[in-house]
Amino acid sequence: MKIIKPTDPDRLREYVRTYVPAGDGAEMICSALAPDTNIVRKVALDERGLAGAISYGVRVEAVRIFSLGSLRKGAGRALVKDVERVAKRRRLPLTVASMASAVGFYERLGFILVKWEGRTIAHMERRGLS
Ligand SMILES: CC(C)(COP(=O)(O)OP(=O)(O)OC[C@H]1O[C@@H](n2cnc3c(N)ncnc32)[C@H](O)[C@@H]1OP(=O)(O)O)[C@@H](O)C(=O)NCCC(=O)NCCS
Repeated sequence: MKIIKPTDPDRLREYVRTYVPAGDGAEMICSALAPDTNIVRKVALDERGLAGAISYGVRVEAVRIFSLGSLRKGAGRALVKDVERVAKRRRLPLTVASMASAVGFYERLGFILVKWEGRTIAHMERRGLS
């Protein structure tokens, strides 16, 4: 799996809207590719093409994942691992406000639950990267 910064994320988003069957993965890929000057957008590519996308921001206190969507097994882990390397280089923790359905995924990758916001959002953190 290759992780890259797409040269034309807006066109890629239109492609996903048009050609990828609707679902949570596709929805979150569109969200990860949405225009925003303060975030970094990256995509995962495999031999079949687009496999997933992630967006994150580098803040003073932490690197924060905003959106993550995967169309194929393994893409989620590869994208989060890529952002972990960014956090590690900066000696910052990595945080995410996760949907309840993805809590198990982030736990599998070493994140711990910090607190729930209502019943739907889980604030999670990956510590010990530096
Ligand atoms: C959650 C999501 C990003 C996971 O991506 P993925 O590519 O399927 O995940 P991976 O295959 O890399 O999974 C890594 C590990 O986590 C496990 N896992 C994946 N999704 C899981 C879940 N929802 N709950 C528990 N474990 C999960 C996998 O089984 C795998 O375990 P392993 O170490 O035994 O192999 C994907 O299902 C998705 O796009 N969901 C819809 C959008 C979403 O929820 N985004 C996150 C919001 S912040």
